[in-house]
Amino acid sequence: MELRGRWALVTGAARRVGRVIALELAGRGMNVAVHYHTSAEAAAATVRELEVLGVRACALGADLARTAEVQRLAAEAETRSGGLAVLVNSAANYLRVPFERLTEAVWDASLDTNLKAPFLLAWHVGRAMQKRGSGHIVNLADWAGERPYPDYLPYCVSKAGIICLTKALAKELAPEVQVNAVAPGPVMPPEGMSVSEREAIARATPLRRLGTPEDVARCVRFLVEEASFSTGATFYVDGGRLIA
Ligand SMILES: NC(=O)c1ccc[n+]([C@@H]2O[C@H](COP(=O)([O-])OP(=O)(O)OC[C@H]3O[C@@H](n4cnc5c(N)ncnc54)[C@H](OP(=O)(O)O)[C@@H]3O)[C@@H](O)[C@H]2O)c1
Repeated sequence: MELRGRWALVTGAARRVGRVIALELAGRGMNVAVHYHTSAEAAAATVRELEVLGVRACALGADLARTAEVQRLAAEAETRSGGLAVLVNSAANYLRVPFERLTEAVWDASLDTNLKAPFLLAWHVGRAMQKRGSGHIVNLADWAGERPYPDYLPYCVSKAGIICLTKALAKELAPEVQVNAVAPGPVMPPEGMSVSEREAIARATPLRRLGTPEDVARCVRFLVEEASFSTGATFYVDGGRLIA
């Protein structure tokens, strides 16, 4: 799909991986609606970075744990853009809680933000894209959605849900809208992770290193720009972590 001059909504795009995805799409001439929750200043900075690339951009705030805010975000992004061509569901939380200390609140917080919000956004925006006759949705999953690791049970379940949501949406929205997922491995560990923890992750990864947010962003860009015969698919950008 030709990206130049068209609009993408990227959730969680103020910082980290979402920001790099927004910059990658802008590098191809896409205008970007930068969604944020708490990082208003960082979102404004990302908007300025995007504008320097010569595209249009705006920052839209919403707490994705709240259905009314998700619906408002979808409507606002559709209106401001005049119709989105691309939706990238990147925002998520990453709540570490040992199994014996899990609570229903942790489950709800993980599933509401990481799975329900991407569903609601795709449901609203995807049907509008379908009516317009084209569009791309890319959901950020995780290799742990296939092979869960300890202490993050609700997070891993939310990402397994994203992989299934991607397939189910791809069927419902075909043939007009393509829906795919990117499942990163370790590309940008949580801030504060120690050097020895990073080294242990690299040792457990067949490519023997951590990836970068750019690795993920290039895959997202490939999916919306070039992957004209892919839908319902999950693309692993994990250095082989899943098969290790
Ligand atoms: N980083 C990795 O190595 C890695 C590995 C595997 C999968 N992934 C997946 O790739 C995606 C991007 O990763 P990341 O590391 O950039 O994620 P992240 O830093 O953990 O979170 C991205 C953004 O999500 C937003 N967010 C969290 N809770 C929210 C809520 N209730 N409402 C609205 N926004 C909320 C935050 O926005 P504000 O800052 O504005 O509050 C945050 O900046 C995520 O889906 C993640 O699960 C990442």
